[in-house]
Amino acid sequence: MMAGEEGADAYVVMGNPVGHSQSPFIHAEFARQFGHAITYRALHVEIGSFRASVEAFRSQGGRGANVTLPFKEEAFALSTQPSARARQAGAVNTLHFDAERIRGDNTDGVGLVNDLEQNLGFPLAGRDILLVGAGGAARGVIGPLLAVSPARLVVANRTASRAQALRRHFDDRIEACGLDRLPAGPFDLVLNATSASLSDRAPPIATAPLRSGACAYDMMYAAEPSPFMRWAEDAGASMVSDGTGMLVEQAAESFRLWRGVRPRTGAVIDALRRRLRDSSSR
Ligand code: ATR
Repeated sequence: MMAGEEGADAYVVMGNPVGHSQSPFIHAEFARQFGHAITYRALHVEIGSFRASVEAFRSQGGRGANVTLPFKEEAFALSTQPSARARQAGAVNTLHFDAERIRGDNTDGVGLVNDLEQNLGFPLAGRDILLVGAGGAARGVIGPLLAVSPARLVVANRTASRAQALRRHFDDRIEACGLDRLPAGPFDLVLNATSASLSDRAPPIATAPLRSGACAYDMMYAAEPSPFMRWAEDAGASMVSDGTGMLVEQAAESFRLWRGVRPRTGAVIDALRRRLRDSSSR
Protein backbone atom coordinates (compact mmCIF):
# COMPACT_ATOMS: atom_id res chain seq x y z
CA MET A 1 0.00 0.00 0.00
CA MET A 2 1.11 3.58 -0.61
CA ALA A 3 2.03 5.84 2.29
CA GLY A 4 -1.05 7.67 3.46
CA GLU A 5 -3.45 5.27 1.82
CA GLU A 6 -5.14 4.53 5.15
CA GLY A 7 -5.96 8.27 5.36
CA ALA A 8 -5.01 10.74 8.06
CA ASP A 9 -7.72 9.64 10.45
CA ALA A 10 -7.37 5.87 10.51
CA TYR A 11 -7.39 3.92 13.79
CA VAL A 12 -7.45 0.24 14.65
CA VAL A 13 -7.76 -2.10 17.57
CA MET A 14 -5.16 -4.84 17.39
CA GLY A 15 -5.63 -8.14 19.19
CA ASN A 16 -5.88 -11.90 18.91
CA PRO A 17 -8.71 -12.72 19.02
CA VAL A 18 -10.29 -9.37 18.16
CA GLY A 19 -13.38 -10.32 16.16
CA HIS A 20 -15.80 -9.62 19.02
CA SER A 21 -14.25 -6.27 19.95
CA GLN A 22 -16.84 -3.57 20.62
CA SER A 23 -14.27 -0.80 20.10
CA PRO A 24 -15.19 -0.08 16.44
CA PHE A 25 -18.81 0.52 17.52
CA ILE A 26 -17.78 2.71 20.47
CA HIS A 27 -15.36 4.89 18.49
CA ALA A 28 -17.85 5.29 15.63
CA GLU A 29 -20.35 6.62 18.20
CA PHE A 30 -17.74 9.01 19.63
CA ALA A 31 -16.74 10.30 16.19
CA ARG A 32 -20.41 10.95 15.39
CA GLN A 33 -20.71 13.20 18.46
CA PHE A 34 -18.11 15.57 17.00
CA GLY A 35 -18.69 15.04 13.29
CA HIS A 36 -15.12 13.71 12.96
CA ALA A 37 -14.39 11.66 9.87
CA ILE A 38 -12.41 8.69 11.15
CA THR A 39 -12.14 5.03 10.30
CA TYR A 40 -11.71 2.54 13.12
CA ARG A 41 -11.52 -1.16 12.47
CA ALA A 42 -10.55 -4.37 14.24
CA LEU A 43 -7.27 -5.86 13.04
CA HIS A 44 -6.48 -9.48 13.82
CA VAL A 45 -2.73 -9.76 14.42
CA GLU A 46 -0.87 -13.06 14.37
CA ILE A 47 1.24 -13.90 17.40
CA GLY A 48 4.81 -12.79 16.61
CA SER A 49 3.65 -10.18 14.06
CA PHE A 50 2.70 -7.32 16.35
CA ARG A 51 5.67 -5.06 15.64
CA ALA A 52 5.41 -5.60 11.86
CA SER A 53 1.66 -4.91 11.95
CA VAL A 54 2.17 -1.65 13.84
CA GLU A 55 4.89 -0.55 11.42
CA ALA A 56 2.74 -1.39 8.38
CA PHE A 57 -0.23 0.51 9.77
CA ARG A 58 1.94 3.53 10.62
CA SER A 59 3.54 3.60 7.21
CA GLN A 60 0.05 3.62 5.66
CA GLY A 61 -0.77 6.78 7.60
CA GLY A 62 -2.51 5.21 10.61
CA ARG A 63 -2.87 7.69 13.45
CA GLY A 64 -3.40 5.49 16.48
CA ALA A 65 -4.18 2.03 17.76
CA ASN A 66 -5.85 0.41 20.67
CA VAL A 67 -4.13 -2.75 21.78
CA THR A 68 -5.78 -5.67 23.49
CA LEU A 69 -4.79 -9.16 24.58
CA PRO A 70 -2.20 -10.53 24.23
CA PHE A 71 -0.14 -7.58 22.93
CA LYS A 72 -0.29 -4.93 25.68
CA GLU A 73 3.23 -5.67 26.99
CA GLU A 74 4.66 -5.68 23.45
CA ALA A 75 2.94 -2.35 22.82
CA PHE A 76 4.66 -0.96 25.90
CA ALA A 77 8.03 -2.19 24.65
CA LEU A 78 7.38 -0.56 21.28
CA SER A 79 6.45 2.85 22.73
CA THR A 80 9.20 5.45 22.40
CA GLN A 81 7.23 7.79 24.71
CA PRO A 82 5.43 5.71 27.35
CA SER A 83 3.30 7.74 29.78
CA ALA A 84 3.78 7.48 33.54
CA ARG A 85 0.68 5.32 33.87
CA ALA A 86 1.88 3.05 31.05
CA ARG A 87 5.20 2.59 32.88
CA GLN A 88 3.37 1.82 36.10
CA ALA A 89 1.20 -0.77 34.36
CA GLY A 90 4.04 -2.16 32.24
CA ALA A 91 1.40 -2.34 29.52
CA VAL A 92 -0.07 -0.09 26.84
CA ASN A 93 -3.60 -0.14 25.42
CA THR A 94 -3.35 3.09 23.42
CA LEU A 95 -0.70 3.93 20.82
CA HIS A 96 -0.55 7.37 19.26
CA PHE A 97 1.65 7.82 16.21
CA ASP A 98 3.07 11.31 16.26
CA ALA A 99 5.68 11.85 13.50
CA GLU A 100 8.61 9.62 14.51
CA ARG A 101 7.33 9.22 18.06
CA ILE A 102 5.20 6.35 19.28
CA ARG A 103 3.32 7.54 22.34
CA GLY A 104 2.05 4.75 24.58
CA ASP A 105 -0.57 5.14 27.27
CA ASN A 106 -2.75 2.93 29.42
CA THR A 107 -6.32 4.14 29.85
CA ASP A 108 -7.77 1.03 31.52
CA GLY A 109 -7.29 2.24 35.09
CA VAL A 110 -8.68 5.69 34.52
CA GLY A 111 -11.60 4.05 32.69
CA LEU A 112 -12.37 1.96 35.76
CA VAL A 113 -12.06 4.91 38.15
CA ASN A 114 -14.26 7.14 35.96
CA ASP A 115 -16.95 4.48 35.63
CA LEU A 116 -17.05 3.91 39.39
CA GLU A 117 -16.87 7.54 40.47
CA GLN A 118 -18.74 9.37 37.73
CA ASN A 119 -21.18 6.87 36.25
CA LEU A 120 -21.94 4.75 39.31
CA GLY A 121 -21.55 7.57 41.85
CA PHE A 122 -19.13 5.58 44.01
CA PRO A 123 -16.28 7.84 45.21
CA LEU A 124 -13.11 5.88 46.00
CA ALA A 125 -11.15 8.12 48.37
CA GLY A 126 -10.93 6.62 51.85
CA ARG A 127 -12.44 3.28 50.78
CA ASP A 128 -11.26 -0.23 51.64
CA ILE A 129 -10.75 -1.97 48.31
CA LEU A 130 -10.22 -5.66 47.56
CA LEU A 131 -8.78 -6.33 44.10
CA VAL A 132 -9.03 -10.00 43.12
CA GLY A 133 -6.47 -11.13 40.54
CA ALA A 134 -2.83 -10.32 39.86
CA GLY A 135 -2.47 -10.64 36.08
CA GLY A 136 -2.23 -7.90 33.49
CA ALA A 137 -5.78 -6.65 34.09
CA ALA A 138 -5.10 -6.13 37.81
CA ARG A 139 -1.72 -4.56 37.29
CA GLY A 140 -3.17 -2.05 34.82
CA VAL A 141 -5.58 -0.54 37.34
CA ILE A 142 -3.50 -0.44 40.55
CA GLY A 143 -1.73 2.88 39.85
CA PRO A 144 -4.95 4.82 39.07
CA LEU A 145 -6.66 3.23 42.09
CA LEU A 146 -3.81 4.30 44.39
CA ALA A 147 -3.98 7.79 42.87
CA VAL A 148 -7.51 8.32 44.26
CA SER A 149 -6.29 7.62 47.82
CA PRO A 150 -8.21 4.60 49.07
CA ALA A 151 -7.79 3.80 52.77
CA ARG A 152 -6.59 0.33 51.84
CA LEU A 153 -5.91 -1.65 48.66
CA VAL A 154 -5.59 -5.41 49.14
CA VAL A 155 -4.60 -7.51 46.11
CA ALA A 156 -5.64 -11.14 46.54
CA ASN A 157 -4.77 -13.81 44.02
CA ARG A 158 -5.25 -17.57 43.67
CA THR A 159 -1.45 -17.76 43.32
CA ALA A 160 -0.24 -15.62 46.23
CA SER A 161 3.28 -15.13 44.84
CA ARG A 162 1.94 -13.11 41.90
CA ALA A 163 0.18 -10.73 44.30
CA GLN A 164 3.41 -10.42 46.32
CA ALA A 165 5.31 -9.54 43.14
CA LEU A 166 2.84 -6.72 42.47
CA ARG A 167 3.34 -5.48 46.00
CA ARG A 168 7.07 -5.17 45.39
CA HIS A 169 6.45 -3.40 42.08
CA PHE A 170 4.23 -0.82 43.79
CA ASP A 171 6.66 -0.13 46.65
CA ASP A 172 4.52 -1.83 49.30
CA ARG A 173 1.67 0.65 48.85
CA ILE A 174 -0.68 -2.31 48.51
CA GLU A 175 -1.27 -5.37 50.66
CA ALA A 176 -0.95 -8.77 49.02
CA CYS A 177 -2.25 -12.22 49.89
CA GLY A 178 -3.56 -15.51 48.55
CA LEU A 179 -7.32 -15.80 47.98
CA ASP A 180 -7.35 -18.40 50.74
CA ARG A 181 -5.80 -15.93 53.21
CA LEU A 182 -8.08 -12.93 52.86
CA PRO A 183 -7.86 -10.35 55.63
CA ALA A 184 -11.06 -9.93 57.62
CA GLY A 185 -12.10 -6.68 55.95
CA PRO A 186 -14.76 -5.45 55.68
CA PHE A 187 -14.40 -3.95 52.20
CA ASP A 188 -16.37 -1.21 50.46
CA LEU A 189 -15.45 -2.40 46.99
CA VAL A 190 -14.53 -5.80 45.55
CA LEU A 191 -13.10 -5.78 42.03
CA ASN A 192 -12.82 -8.89 39.91
CA ALA A 193 -9.76 -8.66 37.65
CA THR A 194 -9.44 -12.41 37.11
CA SER A 195 -10.25 -14.33 33.95
CA ALA A 196 -12.26 -16.90 35.95
CA SER A 197 -15.48 -15.97 34.08
CA LEU A 198 -13.96 -17.36 30.89
CA SER A 199 -14.29 -20.79 32.45
CA ASP A 200 -17.71 -19.81 33.86
CA ARG A 201 -16.45 -19.61 37.42
CA ALA A 202 -16.29 -17.00 40.15
CA PRO A 203 -12.90 -16.66 41.83
CA PRO A 204 -13.13 -18.62 45.10
CA ILE A 205 -13.57 -15.81 47.64
CA ALA A 206 -14.01 -17.80 50.83
CA THR A 207 -15.77 -15.34 53.10
CA ALA A 208 -18.02 -12.43 52.17
CA PRO A 209 -16.19 -9.51 53.74
CA LEU A 210 -18.48 -6.73 52.47
CA ARG A 211 -19.40 -3.58 54.37
CA SER A 212 -22.99 -2.43 54.13
CA GLY A 213 -23.43 -0.33 50.97
CA ALA A 214 -20.57 -2.19 49.31
CA CYS A 215 -20.04 -2.30 45.55
CA ALA A 216 -18.85 -5.32 43.56
CA TYR A 217 -17.44 -4.69 40.11
CA ASP A 218 -16.50 -7.19 37.43
CA MET A 219 -13.96 -5.74 35.00
CA MET A 220 -15.24 -8.16 32.34
CA TYR A 221 -18.49 -7.48 30.49
CA ALA A 222 -21.15 -9.70 29.00
CA ALA A 223 -24.86 -9.69 28.28
CA GLU A 224 -25.54 -11.90 31.30
CA PRO A 225 -24.37 -11.38 34.92
CA SER A 226 -21.08 -13.23 35.47
CA PRO A 227 -20.56 -15.89 38.15
CA PHE A 228 -18.68 -13.23 40.17
CA MET A 229 -21.66 -10.87 39.91
CA ARG A 230 -24.02 -13.63 41.07
CA TRP A 231 -21.65 -14.35 43.98
CA ALA A 232 -21.69 -10.65 44.89
CA GLU A 233 -25.51 -10.52 44.95
CA ASP A 234 -25.55 -13.50 47.32
CA ALA A 235 -22.82 -11.92 49.44
CA GLY A 236 -25.03 -8.84 49.97
CA ALA A 237 -23.38 -6.21 47.75
CA SER A 238 -25.61 -3.12 47.40
CA MET A 239 -24.38 -2.36 43.92
CA VAL A 240 -23.14 -4.87 41.35
CA SER A 241 -21.75 -3.88 37.97
CA ASP A 242 -20.01 -5.44 35.04
CA GLY A 243 -17.25 -3.68 33.09
CA THR A 244 -19.26 -2.25 30.18
CA GLY A 245 -18.83 1.28 31.55
CA MET A 246 -15.10 0.74 32.05
CA LEU A 247 -14.78 -0.37 28.43
CA VAL A 248 -16.49 2.78 27.15
CA GLU A 249 -14.59 5.04 29.56
CA GLN A 250 -11.17 3.67 28.60
CA ALA A 251 -12.16 4.21 24.96
CA ALA A 252 -13.21 7.80 25.71
CA GLU A 253 -9.80 8.49 27.21
CA SER A 254 -8.09 7.00 24.13
CA PHE A 255 -10.28 9.14 21.88
CA ARG A 256 -9.32 12.23 23.88
CA LEU A 257 -5.61 11.43 23.57
CA TRP A 258 -5.95 11.03 19.80
CA ARG A 259 -8.49 13.73 18.96
CA GLY A 260 -8.14 16.32 21.75
CA VAL A 261 -11.83 16.20 22.72
CA ARG A 262 -13.56 14.07 25.31
CA PRO A 263 -16.73 12.26 24.20
CA ARG A 264 -19.84 11.95 26.35
CA THR A 265 -20.15 8.35 27.49
CA GLY A 266 -23.58 7.79 29.11
CA ALA A 267 -25.61 7.22 25.95
CA VAL A 268 -22.83 5.08 24.44
CA ILE A 269 -22.77 2.82 27.52
CA ASP A 270 -26.57 2.38 27.24
CA ALA A 271 -26.31 1.67 23.51
CA LEU A 272 -23.54 -0.87 24.07
CA ARG A 273 -25.57 -2.68 26.74
CA ARG A 274 -28.51 -2.92 24.32
CA ARG A 275 -26.20 -4.16 21.59
CA LEU A 276 -24.72 -6.88 23.83
CA ARG A 277 -28.21 -7.99 24.90
CA ASP A 278 -29.49 -8.06 21.31
CA SER A 279 -26.54 -10.07 20.05
CA SER A 280 -26.86 -12.63 22.85
CA SER A 281 -30.60 -13.13 22.29
CA ARG A 282 -30.18 -13.78 18.57
P1 ATR B 1 -5.08 -10.93 32.49
O1 ATR B 1 -4.06 -10.22 31.68
O2 ATR B 1 -6.45 -10.99 31.89
O3 ATR B 1 -5.11 -10.48 33.90
P2 ATR B 1 -3.54 -13.26 33.22
O4 ATR B 1 -2.28 -12.49 33.35
O5 ATR B 1 -3.53 -14.60 32.59
O6 ATR B 1 -4.64 -12.47 32.41
O7 ATR B 1 -4.19 -13.37 34.68
C1 ATR B 1 -5.38 -14.05 34.91
C2 ATR B 1 -5.78 -13.81 36.36
O8 ATR B 1 -7.01 -14.51 36.63
C3 ATR B 1 -4.79 -14.33 37.38
O9 ATR B 1 -4.86 -13.51 38.54
C4 ATR B 1 -5.31 -15.74 37.64
O10 ATR B 1 -4.90 -16.31 38.87
P3 ATR B 1 -3.48 -17.09 38.94
O11 ATR B 1 -2.42 -16.04 38.93
O12 ATR B 1 -3.54 -17.84 40.21
O13 ATR B 1 -3.46 -17.97 37.71
C5 ATR B 1 -6.78 -15.44 37.68
N1 ATR B 1 -7.67 -16.61 37.48
C6 ATR B 1 -7.95 -17.24 36.33
N2 ATR B 1 -8.84 -18.23 36.53
C7 ATR B 1 -9.15 -18.22 37.86
C8 ATR B 1 -10.02 -18.99 38.69
N3 ATR B 1 -10.79 -19.99 38.20
N4 ATR B 1 -10.08 -18.66 40.00
C9 ATR B 1 -9.33 -17.66 40.51
N5 ATR B 1 -8.48 -16.90 39.77
C10 ATR B 1 -8.40 -17.17 38.46
